[in-house]
Amino acid sequence: MNNQTVLVLDFGGQYKELIARRIREMHVLSIIKSGDMPVDEIKKMNPIGIVLTGGPNSVYGENAPTCDKALFELGIPILGICYGMQLMAYKLGGEVVSCNVSEYGKIDTEITGDCVLFDGMDKKQVALMSHTDYVKTVPTGFKAVAKTKDCPTAAMANDAKKLYAVQFHPEVQHTENGKEMLRNFVFGVCGATGDYTMEGYIEEQIKLVRETVGDETVILGLSGGVDSSVVAALLSKAIGSQLVCIFVDHGLMRKNEGDDVEAAFKPFDLRFIRVNAKDRFLEKLKGVTDPETKRKIIGAEFIKVFEDESKKFGNVKFLAQGTIYPDVIESGAKNSANIKSHHNVGGLPKNMSFTTLVEPLRGLFKDEVRQIGKKLGLPDKLVYRQPFPGPGLAVRIIGEITEEKLNILKEADAIFTYEMEKANVGASQYFAVLTNMRSVGVMGDFRTYDYILALRAVNTSDFMTAEYCKVPHEVLERASSRISNEVDGVSRIVYDISGKPPATIEWE
Ligand code: XMP
Repeated sequence: MNNQTVLVLDFGGQYKELIARRIREMHVLSIIKSGDMPVDEIKKMNPIGIVLTGGPNSVYGENAPTCDKALFELGIPILGICYGMQLMAYKLGGEVVSCNVSEYGKIDTEITGDCVLFDGMDKKQVALMSHTDYVKTVPTGFKAVAKTKDCPTAAMANDAKKLYAVQFHPEVQHTENGKEMLRNFVFGVCGATGDYTMEGYIEEQIKLVRETVGDETVILGLSGGVDSSVVAALLSKAIGSQLVCIFVDHGLMRKNEGDDVEAAFKPFDLRFIRVNAKDRFLEKLKGVTDPETKRKIIGAEFIKVFEDESKKFGNVKFLAQGTIYPDVIESGAKNSANIKSHHNVGGLPKNMSFTTLVEPLRGLFKDEVRQIGKKLGLPDKLVYRQPFPGPGLAVRIIGEITEEKLNILKEADAIFTYEMEKANVGASQYFAVLTNMRSVGVMGDFRTYDYILALRAVNTSDFMTAEYCKVPHEVLERASSRISNEVDGVSRIVYDISGKPPATIEWE
């Protein structure tokens, strides 16, 4: 990317992604790198500013992450946050000590000196603090510009060198004016112009893909999930019919989902190949009840179908993937992003001969991927889709998967989804699960012995932890009544009120 860039150097802070996202929201590109990035590489990157993140360590800790002191002599504006502040102070000759009173949570903070970070703000602020060390003595050339009851240096500044630091976290919502402080740093100190836009990103990627691919064919495994859908839309714009999208319908999709995905891509000028592979998947899954075995069988069969289809296009070199920026960051600074890519490719049969990955979303966060999807004209239904597990309904049917059970679950799930959407409940993810248990019921004058169906709805921001959603009783009641009336084979419906942990979101 040719945009002005603010480099975020990571020292283990849990908010590193948030810092980058906040800056990107201001239309300034922000890239996260490991805190030990060599100064020579930083110079080559030519960032307009650098942010040092927080982190759990003490600067005196044995394995505390550190940076080259030369970083502070580059003439590039730097903002240290939390551990980043302590590191800056420590490296430049200040004194960092343990707090008498550690500060956690929202803390009243007072601005005590002139500082461009706080331009236009009231003297009294609330800021989120989370620290056990603090800067007792600021380095030469710095002045303390904010304090709290227990921290005399809540912020420090060296205007001449454009070095700034805050003990609190401006990137989180709990810090009043935190966004404004970052804005003051990025625009007021670094001189950003706000040249990072999604339109620009799209244009740049289209150019790059065309240069990389020339007139060759690119294969994309399209699942209908947000990331691969956006890749499809972007590549179709870049290389039109050179793109071949392979959508494997394993028969374990939700009601009408295969058709919906196909219909969503009809308006695009792309080669969309739907492989209806339900029979071969169900055949392989016959009699299998163990969750992990189901997952493995489905994963392996998926690759076989994909391989069979890809062969029809000869010696295809390029494989497109929906890798996004968090995948790259999570893989760490040691270039392990490639390990993931490798893993993806390595998991594919060798004779597919893909040699080059095309990953146009590699630089984007999920919300940016969604913006790109919208700009490329993908329908909201695809852009704001809930996550759906690769093994599909197979992990929502407990025990053996049969055609009968699949049909029951598809119908019930469609009703629950409809009622949740109609009532605008807005949970992060919701679905039905077919348990393997039957119970006695009564319908008309007859005894029934039908399946117990579970409804699940959760709220979560990261899907790593989740809380059950307090769906209004009327919505549950309506869904339950409709399901038992309209779906044969279900007479009892229960609602799952477990959180994650100890449960997981999916049942298998
Ligand atoms: P769990 O069940 O582990 O799920 O709490 C967390 C989130 O991940 C989704 N999920 C998957 N997504 N392939 C995926 O792409 C999978 O195999 C898979 N399993 C679970 C799940 O729907 C939830 O959003």
